[in-house]
Amino acid sequence: MDSTDLLVFFVNGKKVRILEPDPELTLLQYLRRSLYLTGTKLACGQGACGACTVMVSYLNITTKKIRNISVNACLIPLCYLHGMAVTTVEGVGSTRNGLHPVQESLVESHGLQCGFCTPGMVMTMYTLFRNNPNPTQQQMERALEGNLCRCTGYRPIVDAFRSAKENCPCGLGLCLEESDRTETRDQDEKSNDEPKSATTQDVIFPPELQLNSAYHTKFMTFKSSKYTWYRPTTVEEALRLLTNFPKAQFVLGCNTIGYLLRKGAMTSNVIICCTHLPELQCVQFTSSEIRIGAGVTMGQLESELLAVKSNKTISAMLDVLRWVAADQIKNTATLGGHVMSKIPNLDMQTFFMAAGAVLEFRKMNGGVQEVPMDNDFVHSAKNNVYQDQILVSIRVPLLSDDEHMSGLKQPNRRGFDYGVVTTGLYVQFEKGTTVVQNMRLAFGGTDDKPVLATRAVNVAIKRSWNEDMLEKVNDALMIELQSTAYTNIPFRTTLACSFFLKFFMKIKAELETGCSEFPAGLSHIPTSGIQVYDIPDESDTKAVWKPIPNVTSGYIAAGEAQFVDDIPSATNELFAGLVTSTHAHAKILSVDVSAALEMEGVIDYIDYKDIPCDNNYGFLVPDNVLLCQDEVSYHGQAICVILAESREIANRAVKLVEVKYEPLEATISIQDAIMKEQFFGHAYKVERGCMEEAEKEADFVLEGVCETGAQEHLYMEPHSSLVIPRKEQNELDIITSTQGVTQLQEDVAKFLGLDSNRISSRVKRVGGGFGGKATDSIVTSGIAAIGAWKTNRPVRCIYDRELDFKITGKRHPIEAKYKVYFKKDGRIVGCDVKYYYNAGYSTDLSPLIMKCGMLLVQGCYTFTNMKAEGKLCRTNLPSNTAFRGFGSPQVMFVAEAMIQKVAFHLNIQAEQVRDTNMLRKGDVTPFNMPINDDNLYRCWEECKQDSEFDKRVKNIHAFNSANRWRKRGISIVPCMYGIGYPPLFLNQAGALVLVYKDGSVLLAHSGVELGQGLHTKMIQIAASTLEIPHEKIIISETSTTTAPNTSETGGSNAADLNAGAVLEACKKIKDRLAPIKEKNPEGGWNAWVTAAYFSRVSLSATGFYGPREEGYDYEKNSGSHSHYFTYGSACTEVEIDVLTGEHQVVRVDIVMDVGKSLNPAIDVGQIEGGFVQGVGMMTTEELKVNAKGELTSTGPLDYKVPGIRNIPRQMNVKLLKYAEGPKTVYSAKGIGEPPLLLAVSVFYAIKEAILAARKHENLSEDYFFQCPATVERIRMACQDKITQKSK
Ligand SMILES: Cc1cc2nc3c(=O)[nH]c(=O)nc-3n(C[C@H](O)[C@H](O)[C@H](O)COP(=O)(O)OP(=O)(O)OC[C@H]3O[C@@H](n4cnc5c(N)ncnc54)[C@H](O)[C@@H]3O)c2cc1C
Ligand code: FES
Ligand code: FES
Repeated sequence: MDSTDLLVFFVNGKKVRILEPDPELTLLQYLRRSLYLTGTKLACGQGACGACTVMVSYLNITTKKIRNISVNACLIPLCYLHGMAVTTVEGVGSTRNGLHPVQESLVESHGLQCGFCTPGMVMTMYTLFRNNPNPTQQQMERALEGNLCRCTGYRPIVDAFRSAKENCPCGLGLCLEESDRTETRDQDEKSNDEPKSATTQDVIFPPELQLNSAYHTKFMTFKSSKYTWYRPTTVEEALRLLTNFPKAQFVLGCNTIGYLLRKGAMTSNVIICCTHLPELQCVQFTSSEIRIGAGVTMGQLESELLAVKSNKTISAMLDVLRWVAADQIKNTATLGGHVMSKIPNLDMQTFFMAAGAVLEFRKMNGGVQEVPMDNDFVHSAKNNVYQDQILVSIRVPLLSDDEHMSGLKQPNRRGFDYGVVTTGLYVQFEKGTTVVQNMRLAFGGTDDKPVLATRAVNVAIKRSWNEDMLEKVNDALMIELQSTAYTNIPFRTTLACSFFLKFFMKIKAELETGCSEFPAGLSHIPTSGIQVYDIPDESDTKAVWKPIPNVTSGYIAAGEAQFVDDIPSATNELFAGLVTSTHAHAKILSVDVSAALEMEGVIDYIDYKDIPCDNNYGFLVPDNVLLCQDEVSYHGQAICVILAESREIANRAVKLVEVKYEPLEATISIQDAIMKEQFFGHAYKVERGCMEEAEKEADFVLEGVCETGAQEHLYMEPHSSLVIPRKEQNELDIITSTQGVTQLQEDVAKFLGLDSNRISSRVKRVGGGFGGKATDSIVTSGIAAIGAWKTNRPVRCIYDRELDFKITGKRHPIEAKYKVYFKKDGRIVGCDVKYYYNAGYSTDLSPLIMKCGMLLVQGCYTFTNMKAEGKLCRTNLPSNTAFRGFGSPQVMFVAEAMIQKVAFHLNIQAEQVRDTNMLRKGDVTPFNMPINDDNLYRCWEECKQDSEFDKRVKNIHAFNSANRWRKRGISIVPCMYGIGYPPLFLNQAGALVLVYKDGSVLLAHSGVELGQGLHTKMIQIAASTLEIPHEKIIISETSTTTAPNTSETGGSNAADLNAGAVLEACKKIKDRLAPIKEKNPEGGWNAWVTAAYFSRVSLSATGFYGPREEGYDYEKNSGSHSHYFTYGSACTEVEIDVLTGEHQVVRVDIVMDVGKSLNPAIDVGQIEGGFVQGVGMMTTEELKVNAKGELTSTGPLDYKVPGIRNIPRQMNVKLLKYAEGPKTVYSAKGIGEPPLLLAVSVFYAIKEAILAARKHENLSEDYFFQCPATVERIRMACQDKITQKSK
């Protein structure tokens, strides 16, 4: 029994055999590092993003049917896979042999930007099509719930899968004619052209796994030096193992074990995998109960329940199962593992408790022990009472006619998320009456374990099902559910009671009408959208202005696109593991790395003493510290670094480093900093017009306070760098994920005391940046460079998601206090605003961000007189940094708050106030920018018309009158954003064009491809200028070796700047070829290029572009801060669930002025993606920092960026028809940041909806509502009896 077996499984049809597999190794690690199948990405390692989705196929040992399931490879231990087959994105299709229809549709529908999430998307959809060739839109959307995309806004992804189904009805490419396949394959072999259509047969389930039963029936043992993994085949064998290893850890679905192994938190080194015990695998239906084997997965159970005739129990169970996690989790999570997990808010646990489920345990030498799932069980399980037993099955009694049940939950994010509170609610009536005979109310998330409320139930027994009983039960619940487990107990008890109210109303409706459908939640609305833009007529052969797909999207969809972590390891490569501070502010007394250095595989370590020259860096002020010396300034700051042979060794060694601290007083909040007067530099003050005039002119003056929270970038690719030392000339090659190659090159050169010409800094693509990879990327590169310098070996430094969250800066939270001066007709004559930005521990870009943001003090309006002051608070947090919008979304939020305030006071619509005050052609902003056209107002008017704003306002009133517990609100806002940085030197770009003898062109420019389609646009410009097909041109990378002295890519400015440089370089080539072309007009591009070579005409050229003559002087308010403005408007309608605080954006209509779009499909993608990121900022994205300054949300599991369920159900985007605009390259405008600002409309629409709810409680006055509009804030703002009692 104890010898090691051979682990066998298949990957993409190829057999993998591993002797002595390491039980700690996950499938993801193995795919990426042993098989070099790097298409499957590591983005979170928490099972919460789907970037690592693969398809696993296996033979069900009881049904003998093959199941294809999507799973998160980051959670699956390799040993779990014995006898299974894995399909990765590489096994689905490739650019050489043909893309799969699913991949192809993503390309054609522009369903990807940075591409880091794309392979996971492909695999989710591929698996769905494998199981269901004709899925409905609802099924497709549901499948995508487990996959996050931070760039696109999801709409084009859903479109892609819809069109995959339409273009290829089987969804798998199997319906293509065989002859077509052969033909395409032959062509492929001859050509190196761009990606082809599907040619490959889908990988079939390996017959060997079907025919050789030993794969499924043999007792398996896998041993490594540390862990032993047993896979018994009978319950007796499992129990015998348990007797021998009493502390062994059972595994059924791996979701817990994967996490424990990764965290090094296992309590035993023996793992007993119970997946192949037939007794645990069955689902049996009898006349009185459903018996569910503990090893049945939630996905399996759902299929089984859907396949039999439904009854009340099945329907209630399906309702709960629907909202447990996402499919990737449900496909492996078992009911047994779920019941035995010690998490306080599990959905099926609370459901089973309320259902009166009975658990069947088996023990060595004992029979079956039946245990009711009640408070005693939960208590005993928490205390490991069942440690010596195995859970075999769960028996759920069927409901009779007199019994009713529901399971309701409310997560922080609609869709894939744990419930804040989750419930199981059951009632039985005395026969033929509405008198309560029995009741079970189970709640998860109100205490540190799920509870069955007993006191409330006793109150209900013998009472009739009426309002009196409802009130008494809720009163009792309020008392009974009090606990100290959470800081927000009033919200949790409010939710619990609100759920009981929902249950009450549902049953009442059922009793009265016999109808079990009760519209208790938000309306169900499938996603849809329209995109409207102009394309030049067909006769125009230019590549610009056309919606061509991102030029590398085929490689991205095939999983072939390379990110830093995908680069194969160099010989001798080391991995850098960071030791970070566990205090927000403290003196470092000592650092002991001796135990870490003794670990096998640890090669060296570095700290501040190893930095040859400068330990400080900073774009404006060098007050960032690379490695701390005597003091730490925030929780998560880097202290020293372990260099080891692998990342696993490095991570383990990091835990052995002992740092002793002397804690110092820490400042965390803005309030705290104001009190202690901790600011960076002086206040930035602006005054325009005359405030005394404003006071004189105004009929009213009102004051208000506004707050916005921090926002985490959550780019899907974490910070990553690989530094390769070249021994000669002290050169270093940095391959990294940054938005600014030059700054990084300069800083690394300074750390090492070298000239910049010895450091090359290169980027192929970045898996999302959004500003977060501007200055923060210097840390991974700096650390890897110091490590490489010290050891003379290549060093890779890649953050895991938790570290990325903790160490990097966010969007600045702000607090603003304002006074607004206005007249009776709604005209605003002045404002006086004080802003406080939480800057974190160092200066970073904060002064620039604050000043750029404050250019929008008045939003899109003309207030005549204005006074503003901004202060940067110094706190013990990571240094907050650039984020899409660069300070503007926060300031615009405040401007719109003033508009709302005025409208509320005058009892008129906010839209009227906006209209009255909007900037028009001929106006000049307070910062000297003339408004040269009326495109802002055109966007506004068209948005109002397209959205049928006035009609919908009436409809919403009608909806709100008809619905007590669902309310709707609508808001329409304009936006404007200055394109171009105020300091002139930041507005420059270079390009290099190399034309080869065969006519192919290699283009380089200063901008970094972050997913915004920059390279595609630049290729379009080059192709149009050179008058060649865009397929002849590629961009390989952005590098300091081809474009020196670049500015950081950001600010929606990069396309403008680089377009000018590319245009100039290409024109030079074109001019040089002109005489040759004249001699041979029919020759064509290739002939002209060859002739040029033989005539010794240079075929390379550089270009440079620096628009604007004058920069902006903040002190004197002179010059111009931008090249021009991009404008837009959005009208947003939302619906809220008054009882839970959940919301959905019902519809948004956006009109944007992007001039003559260089690529309308890419620009629409930027608009949708930017808007959805703004929706996150305004609603679900709440970063939690505890009193000690420690960030407690450290990944997508607990920081909720929008998923597919959170996007506007209807998203209509229109690009304003080009009429007039500033002079730019090909008349295009920058886009990227501006649409994010429009999401402010979501917040104010929610505020309107809440107001409609508050009116029922006679609360009609304005109220303070904090941003983001989380479920908790929405629910608690919708005041009623329940919220009042919860306090
Ligand atoms: C990203 C993510 C999101 C999630 N979201 C939700 C959600 O929204 N709602 C929700 O309710 N849940 C959610 N879950 C939890 C999930 O539903 C499962 O409960 C959980 O993953 C455990 O299931 P498992 O089969 O993987 O258990 P395992 O990891 O295999 O085991 C869990 C525990 O049970 C013990 N155990 C396993 N089998 C037995 C047995 N036969 N007898 C005795 N002890 C046993 C194990 O030793 C272990 O301690 C989520 C999980 C993840 C990873
Ligand atoms: S990396 Fe696996 S789910 Fe995020
Ligand atoms: S394209 Fe989806 S995360 Fe970037």
